[in-house]
Amino acid sequence: MLRISSLFVCFFLLFSNFAISEQLADGIAPEFAVGRSSKSLVKAKDFMIATANPHASKAGYAILRAGGNAVDAMVAVQLVLGLVEPQSSGLGGGAFLVYWDAATKKLTTFDGRETAPQAATSALFLDDEGNPLKFFDAVVGGRSVGTPGTVRLLHEVHKAHGKLAWKDVFAPAIELTKAGFEVSPRLNALISNSAETLYRYEATRHYFLSEEGVPLFPGTVIVNKPYGKTLKAIAEGGADAFYTGEIARDIVETVQKAEGNPGVLSLEDMANYKVIQREAVCANYRGNDICGMGPPSSGALTVGQILKMVEPYDLKTLGPSNPESWRIIGDASRLAFADRGRYMADSDFVKMPKGLLNEAYMQERSKLLGGTSALTKDEVSPGNPPSDHALLFSDDEAIELPSTSHFSIVDKEGNVVSMTTTIENGFGSRLMVRGFLLNNELTDFSFRPERNGKPIANRVEPGKRPRSSMSPTIIMRDGKPYMAIGSPGGSRIIGYVAKTIIAHLDWGMDVQSAIDLPHLVNRFGTYDVEAGTSAEQFIPALEAMGFKVKARGLNSGLHGIVITKNGLEGGADPRREGLVSGK
Ligand code: GLY
Repeated sequence: MLRISSLFVCFFLLFSNFAISEQLADGIAPEFAVGRSSKSLVKAKDFMIATANPHASKAGYAILRAGGNAVDAMVAVQLVLGLVEPQSSGLGGGAFLVYWDAATKKLTTFDGRETAPQAATSALFLDDEGNPLKFFDAVVGGRSVGTPGTVRLLHEVHKAHGKLAWKDVFAPAIELTKAGFEVSPRLNALISNSAETLYRYEATRHYFLSEEGVPLFPGTVIVNKPYGKTLKAIAEGGADAFYTGEIARDIVETVQKAEGNPGVLSLEDMANYKVIQREAVCANYRGNDICGMGPPSSGALTVGQILKMVEPYDLKTLGPSNPESWRIIGDASRLAFADRGRYMADSDFVKMPKGLLNEAYMQERSKLLGGTSALTKDEVSPGNPPSDHALLFSDDEAIELPSTSHFSIVDKEGNVVSMTTTIENGFGSRLMVRGFLLNNELTDFSFRPERNGKPIANRVEPGKRPRSSMSPTIIMRDGKPYMAIGSPGGSRIIGYVAKTIIAHLDWGMDVQSAIDLPHLVNRFGTYDVEAGTSAEQFIPALEAMGFKVKARGLNSGLHGIVITKNGLEGGADPRREGLVSGK
């Protein structure tokens, strides 16, 4: 990698050192140091793309303009995101795609989730005494690295649905590896916040920091030649060039030899990786089918449960300014998270109850929201969804921190891509190979395999996929795609997506205003209210209802497109640096 330093090097060194220590000392999530920008609704007739980074949106736009379709643009966008937003997603990670194919009029999903290596055991994240490791002791190093799925997903879906030649969709990303791109303020802030762990491994340190540990300053131009070489190899050799041969060998060696925390990923795990096409999971909400990713993601089921539980309540009349709306949404979310923690995991390994979205079950759960105050801790417990087997699981305790990226694309044929993509934690395992970072997705498993003699559904098992919260969504109306939406944000993704859907469908906000609307997210009891926004006005009322409330930064990255009768409308999250473009 070459760096072309910007001006004021001395100032940069001073400023950056100050920034690192201040942010670490305060424990400020770096995203909030960057702040909110103001974004306007974008309209277009033919095609549209909404991603978390302007370079990625421009790459997708160029492909769509050149006659490519949404799947061609998806590949180009992901390859660029892996370069300019390396902390969030990339070749070393996994992804879920919800896809509407205009020609066959079919909605489907592709599961490119990372998998646990065959040598992984349920004790992977336990210490010698059988106690769970501290989160970052597990994350940083080879132990947390699952077999990456993104490259196989891109290639398989492109083979089936792409229009341009595979090689051609690599052009924008390869070009950018040569021309270089400027480190954004956001990337700088994120590097600063993770500087200590990024310093640990040589290749990663060399890429993101100076020898003294100073993060790349905003405006520094990065030229990532190793990434360019990796892309060329995959452009020429397809996904096999990644999953077998030199690249796979380097990945496996880096994981197995990670100093202090080696992992067990093998060449066989790489060679045997499979993308799984799955049926979309849909919940009908006020006449719309809200469709998304089923297990191993908890996304569609949990978003669906929240919506089904609030459906009997007249949110439209209550409106977004009434704390009563947020009581209902917040407690619906807590109930949904109780089911998620007990029952949801990779259903190829764990027998999940069939009736998590069953109408009668949802109506029964919804009645719990009929009071006027917050549910007590005891009232928020998993329900008894219809099932064809005994439900013997204990509650999960996986920790999921905000990370990840979401993009939405609609092309002029009407194909729709809604893809959420990740390397899990910001900067993943902190291991870097050939210009990209490796994931730490295995820490999305529960570290404990069992509790009180009962197995935890989301425990580590060889070949299993860790439970996700990623919620790439396509809303169907009258059998046609109506909206594509999704977000990063760890397990808060679910709340961000549910809120945006409610804001659009119940409160009539356009997609940009629905994304902008300040977040209130409740997963496990504490009501997170977006700090520095008008949502703080609800704090006294929510506290009076009995909620424990915390104002904090809530760094979603919602990127959505609505397909109206008059054309396309897109929104990008003001909390990140994303861009909507279209024609
Ligand atoms: N690692 C983020 C998620 O899968 O939900």
